[in-house]
Amino acid sequence: MTNTSYIDSVRALQWSDDGLLVLDQRQLPARIVHENCRTAADVADTIASMRVRGAPAIGIAAAYGVVLAARERFTQNPLDWRSAVEHDLQRLARSRPTAVNLFWALERMRAVIRRVNTEPVAPLLAEAIAIHEEDIAANRHMGELGADYLANAAGILTHCNTGSLATGGYGTALGVIRSACQRGPRNIFATETRPWSQGARLTVWELNKDRIPATLIADSAAAFLMQSGRVQWVIVGADRIAANGDTANKIGTYALAVAARHHGVRFMVVAPMSTIDWDTAQGEKIEIEERDSRELLAENLLAPDSVISAWNPVFDVTPATLIDVIVTERGVVEQPSSQTMQRLFG
Ligand code: MRU
Repeated sequence: MTNTSYIDSVRALQWSDDGLLVLDQRQLPARIVHENCRTAADVADTIASMRVRGAPAIGIAAAYGVVLAARERFTQNPLDWRSAVEHDLQRLARSRPTAVNLFWALERMRAVIRRVNTEPVAPLLAEAIAIHEEDIAANRHMGELGADYLANAAGILTHCNTGSLATGGYGTALGVIRSACQRGPRNIFATETRPWSQGARLTVWELNKDRIPATLIADSAAAFLMQSGRVQWVIVGADRIAANGDTANKIGTYALAVAARHHGVRFMVVAPMSTIDWDTAQGEKIEIEERDSRELLAENLLAPDSVISAWNPVFDVTPATLIDVIVTERGVVEQPSSQTMQRLFG
């Protein structure tokens, strides 16, 4: 199920009969530590605390969390397990608000719960594995579709971590970068991605492990990098794409899109269909997660003790008008808008 290769050797999530094995991303790159989640509550805590993070990976973890819930609840009460599992589903749904893949995966699992009338664990596990495998297949396909746009891109800038750590495997934006690098050498630049430093701690680690050379930059160096002419594309993932193409992604994405447009650098969003929220017409309706301000201060360790408040929104919304292409496994939308999105996806 979780086939790896030398260009894609990392896995964030692995299922075993003993539970869901999660690579603890809070400890990377200093330590490689796995945590075994044995209950849905463990999985919800793991998502909330960002041991696993990245929109598709959150959805996959939640799907396995439902398997764990069913296993526990069915053993406790084989005649009336559904209401207890629904309680666990709701707990999983509260773990993080912005990545729509979480709610999408829980809905898929709910559909299985509705139709089973015997032992639920086997069919739920089959569905969770399908969600996991489909994500890897989608990423590989998006990798090829996205790389088709990059024939003349000597330099690419990416933001946050969108690789195997953030997905079932291979990655979204980082998947396109993997595929492009297989076609020929590129200069890959990764932002640090403050305050949680997904770029510095995860992306650079992951690329290094897979022997893809990359250069780390401070977030504040991005506009200067574009001005220098060393990148032709910015490629990012997404946590939720509204029906008109507005895209919520890691804080700082919007600033990169504004700078890219100013410098004539093209801007690509790569995300599976599970990231598109057709019920949300436009980006301003997307809930933006605000995390504990201590996370911001603790990560930076620079603010004086006298700082009494800090604002820590962890996503922002890039308007569709600043996006050149959205790559999905079902095809590519150029100049996204309600009309172009509808035309491709119907
Ligand atoms: O807060 P995180 O680390 O979960 O945020 C992750 C991102 O914003 C990613 O860019 C996004 O989920 C796409 S991952 C394939």
